Order: sequence, then structure tokens, then C-alpha cells
Amino acid sequence: MFKGVLFDLDGVIADTSTLHFDAWKKLVNKYFSVALPDSIEEKTKGVSRTDSLKVILESLDVVVSDSMFQQLLHEKNELYGDSLNTLSPNNILPGIAPFISELKEQKMKLALASASLNGPLILEKLALSTAFDAVADPSKVACGKPAPDIFISAAKALGLTPAVCVGIEDSIAGISAINSSGAFSVAVGKNPQLQSANLILPSTAELRLDTLRIAYSN
Ligand code: BG6
Ligand code: MG
Repeated sequence: MFKGVLFDLDGVIADTSTLHFDAWKKLVNKYFSVALPDSIEEKTKGVSRTDSLKVILESLDVVVSDSMFQQLLHEKNELYGDSLNTLSPNNILPGIAPFISELKEQKMKLALASASLNGPLILEKLALSTAFDAVADPSKVACGKPAPDIFISAAKALGLTPAVCVGIEDSIAGISAINSSGAFSVAVGKNPQLQSANLILPSTAELRLDTLRIAYSN
């Protein structure tokens, strides 16, 4: 049986996924006077701030100087940070609080495996910091999702191998990362492109320890 659960944050624990894209849209509108197409959102999900900006600039066919690139990263995070001002436990996604309680009761180890540098701050605002045994630091891994590094690091921080862990993700990049790490992948969401996950659930409200146990043991 598995012993640890490695959680993505944005779009799995908290409803912050759209806040990231809203910030990118505002930024692009301000600097390039164009509306960022919604089709770009999925390409930035689970992807680091730097890699997201690269995807966005490429989609706009825009090249910027290194200093402008840094300015854009900084300003995106300021816009995103502003939108986190009112974040509270009300922003925890459906089913996550009871699921975490169930995991804790059953002595499962919990780690955060988010690409977000804002992870610790968000957990604090959601009053979930103490629920996690470890938070993997995305600034300390060589490659971001879809590379497996952050999930390998999160499992290691729990003293476990990825093989005895379940990873939970809402993004395509995230599911690829879990699969490459050797952990059992659980996708939450309805995007057909999540089909490479070991288990697909339509939403976080369907997360139950028993459901995961049955799927993992098959
Ligand atoms: C991921 C989000 O969780 O974190 C991405 O899905 C985001 O959209 C990435 O780019 C990095 O977040 P941050 O907070 O470090 O800019
Ligand atoms: Mg996510």
C-alpha cells in the first residue's frame, strides 16, 4: 500500500489556478495591448513562472530583453500577489479538507509538490501549513514540471520512494511529472488530455482514501 500523498497546489488544493492566468492576461494587455487567448491557459498550468512567460511570449511572437523579461516576471507576481490578499480557507477546493483529515487519521505522510514559489504563503492563508509533513522547494530542483524533479524531491522529503506515493494533479504537465517520477498519478478534472493518469477523477470532491487504495492496488 502507498504511504505518502504528494499534492499539487493550484487547482488541486486551492482555487488559485485562474488567478495565475488572470494576472498574465492583465500583464500582457498592459505591455502588448493584446488579449491573451484562453488556449494558452492549459499550457501554463503546472509550469513555472519563468517557463510560463516563455510560453506566453512565444505565443505572441514577441522577443524581449533579459531585463524586460525579469520585469515582467516581477510584475506578474505582484499582480498575482494582490489577488491573494483575500485568500482564506474558503478558497480550499471541495472535498480537500475532509480528504486531508482522512489521510492524517490513517497516518499517511503528506507533501506539497507545487511549482509555485508562493506555496508556503498560500498554505498559511488556507490554514493548512501544519497538515503537511514536507513542502518541496521548486527553487531547489533542476527542472520544473513536466520533469519529475519536484515529485521526487517531495517523496524524498517524506523519507519515501516515489513508488510508495500517490501524486495528485490537475495539469497535463503535472501528470507527466508524476508518471515520470514513478509515483501513482491521480488526475482531477475533465480535460481529456489528462488521460495518461493512472486514475482520473472528475473533481477534487471525489477524492477518497479508499478510491485511491483500490486503484493503487490494481
Ligand atoms: C503552478 C501554476 O502551480 O505554479 C502555474 O499552475 C504557475 O500556473 C506556477 O506558473 C508558478 O507559480 P508562482 O506562484 O511561483 O508564480
Ligand atoms: Mg495545478
